[in-house]
Amino acid sequence: MSLQSVCCLKVAAAADSSMAASSVFRPGLFNHKVAIVTGGGSGIGKAISAELVELGCSVVISSRKTERLEAAAQEMRQKIPPSSPASVTPLPCNIRNEDEVKGLISSVLKQFGRIDFLVNNGGGQFSSPAENVSSKGWKAVIDTNLTGTFYCCKEAYTAWMKQHGGVIVNIIADMWKGFPGMAHTGAARAAVDNLTKSLAIEWAHSGVRVNAVAPGTIFSKTAMENYKELGPNLFKMSVPFSPAKRLGVPEEISSTVCFLLSPAASYISGATLKVDAGQSLYHSMWEIPNHSAWPEAPEGENLKALKELLNPPSKL
Ligand code: ADE
Repeated sequence: MSLQSVCCLKVAAAADSSMAASSVFRPGLFNHKVAIVTGGGSGIGKAISAELVELGCSVVISSRKTERLEAAAQEMRQKIPPSSPASVTPLPCNIRNEDEVKGLISSVLKQFGRIDFLVNNGGGQFSSPAENVSSKGWKAVIDTNLTGTFYCCKEAYTAWMKQHGGVIVNIIADMWKGFPGMAHTGAARAAVDNLTKSLAIEWAHSGVRVNAVAPGTIFSKTAMENYKELGPNLFKMSVPFSPAKRLGVPEEISSTVCFLLSPAASYISGATLKVDAGQSLYHSMWEIPNHSAWPEAPEGENLKALKELLNPPSKL
């Protein structure tokens, strides 16, 4: 298995995970708050939803997959103690479709009367060299990860947050050295990083904070299972690329999101928190084969010295 295929793990985090471990935040922190988490039925989104619920929030989880949403909602509901005002409501929505996003936001407002938090976690991509990405594939990834996020932000803002304030967190990816092997999602996530900054400024006057979280390689049992027999090795091979020499888990992303949504982050906006143990500062996972495709460096004393360094004259 090549390191190239390991690269896709940097967003593979989006597959399933089980419920969050116990939150470090104070019980009841988000009592009577209302959150929408896109992609909330699986992986990082599910961990975020579970922690918000644990902290008393009413969470609307949304994705295209109704059955998965229902199952995740059922699982999370079972852990809500009778004394908690928390709830989990699955609402299907294709974020690529602006009318469906408008429908989602208006349903939430009808049912709950407010939207305090929007977590844009829904996304999707596929691994492919850029030269093989079709126009349809490119558009699908950009429409979901970038345009879908924009639709959700815009609608939550115009329909509620503009008048009442709120907090938005966008989940992006480790694309800081480009994203070879998944150029489409790298481009979309980098655009969302920039969108986060624009909206933080444009919407500051409404009391809206907008931030992003960029996870490193995040392991979950079900993410591993999604890769079938390749899964265990893919995750194992990525461990040396983490300065922590271990992989992250979805609960390490959800705690950061809860922090950004909480009053502890009341002065933070337009920021992107890398939650990657420094992975993005460390080795690239992408391998470049040996080649001689570049022209030689310009002639001169430095090239001569360089050649002598690399090919010292034989002493024989
Ligand atoms: N997650 C992945 N793709 C999605 C989409 N189009 N709408 C909502 N959630 C998604």
